[in-house]
Amino acid sequence: MVNTGSTPVTVIGLGAMGQALAEAFLNAGHPTTVWNRTAARAEPLVAKGAVRAETVAEAVTAAPLIVVCVLDYAAVHGLLDPVADELSGRALVNLTNGTAQEARTTAEWAAELGAEYVDGGIMAIPPTIGTPASAILYSGSQQAFDTHSTVLDLLGTSKFLGTDAGLAALHDLALLGAMYGMFAGAFTAMAMVGTEKVAAADFTDELLVPWLNSMVAVLPLLAAEADSGEEVSEERKLVERVALTNIIDTAKAQGVAANLVNPIQAIKDNT
Ligand SMILES: NC(=O)c1ccc[n+]([C@@H]2O[C@H](COP(=O)([O-])OP(=O)(O)OC[C@H]3O[C@@H](n4cnc5c(N)ncnc54)[C@H](OP(=O)(O)O)[C@@H]3O)[C@@H](O)[C@H]2O)c1
Repeated sequence: MVNTGSTPVTVIGLGAMGQALAEAFLNAGHPTTVWNRTAARAEPLVAKGAVRAETVAEAVTAAPLIVVCVLDYAAVHGLLDPVADELSGRALVNLTNGTAQEARTTAEWAAELGAEYVDGGIMAIPPTIGTPASAILYSGSQQAFDTHSTVLDLLGTSKFLGTDAGLAALHDLALLGAMYGMFAGAFTAMAMVGTEKVAAADFTDELLVPWLNSMVAVLPLLAAEADSGEEVSEERKLVERVALTNIIDTAKAQGVAANLVNPIQAIKDNT
């Protein structure tokens, strides 16, 4: 059954992200109960109509849908293990960053308690929560996702990846890895031109961002190649090896650590 009414929602964890999640529910008129370890962080939300639970138990029993977003899974279990008996029959949507294995273990734990568990990965920053620009990945209980998808859609563009609870974390971490790899290369690039007194901001606006945008457009071609299982030609490997060697040599000559580029050459050498 798809829920289209004003489902009461509980949000546990009111850091930068939890506050944005709770605000999205409040903006849509959902009765929203909130709890945070540091109680004062609930105040701006209470001013917007949220109910502040005094205890985690009170927060959990206030709604059929519980969204938790704290630092890590140790914090999730530190909060929810003591109130595990209250979770039966509820949908627990955990948007805390964690590994695929942590998600699977938590799904098994929730299933033993009779709770429906959905794990999630937020591909967004707090200011974009509540807009289509926020992609939120989900996996786990199809039943809970279908029941609450209308409510979850308030947070951004929802994507359900399957009933293996680990899939959202797997995709989330893969995407974050791609982002950090890109940032690492970008910081190396800024440091390289910085040795000749080029301002990072000017370089980034004028050259780096347009360049990376044009290269992003090539990714679907590379992905199709990877899917085809075809070997990259020796000629292309050689061209890439020469370019990577030149990058590393030039970085070193300019006094910039090439630590972030070195592993790429090693990966390329093994493919
Ligand atoms: N911010 C982002 O741009 C972003 C984007 C995507 C995903 N996320 C994910 O969202 C989650 C929360 O991030 P955030 O940005 O909201 O972080 P944050 O602003 O640092 O807030 C951390 C939250 O976790 C709580 N917490 C930490 N340790 C705890 C413990 N041992 N017991 C109980 N509560 C504990 C904090 O409570 P106190 O207030 O009491 O310290 C606070 O509510 C993380 O998993 C993060 O990876 C964040």
